[in-house]
Amino acid sequence: MWNVRAPMIMSTFADSYDFTGKTAHPVTTYALSGLGTTERDSAAACRGAVIAAGLAIRGEEVNDARPAIETWLRQNGLINP
Ligand SMILES: Cc1cc2nc3c(=O)[nH]c(=O)nc-3n(C[C@H](O)[C@H](O)[C@H](O)COP(=O)(O)O)c2cc1C
Repeated sequence: MWNVRAPMIMSTFADSYDFTGKTAHPVTTYALSGLGTTERDSAAACRGAVIAAGLAIRGEEVNDARPAIETWLRQNGLINP
């Protein structure tokens, strides 16, 4: 997160693709803001995408985040139970 949103380069990157038929899950590291406006910004940048549940992990806790990430992946059907 930079200034309560994903760094602008993420939107610039996504802007150049057609996400029709795709599902995008915003994933961020942060200090205080959680996902901030990332889901809204992703919806604007990822043309045609369905924006699904996001995941925010505190940067300082990233080394211990494996269980939380695996739970989130499972809950969103991105890995097998
Ligand atoms: C310029 C700058 C702006 C930031 N703004 C925010 C912010 O608005 N909200 C927040 O939660 N964290 C903010 N952070 C903290 C980073 O999101 C956090 O340290 C994150 O873990 C960095 O991840 P990275 O090391 O993968 O880049 C900011 C960091 C920088 C350098």
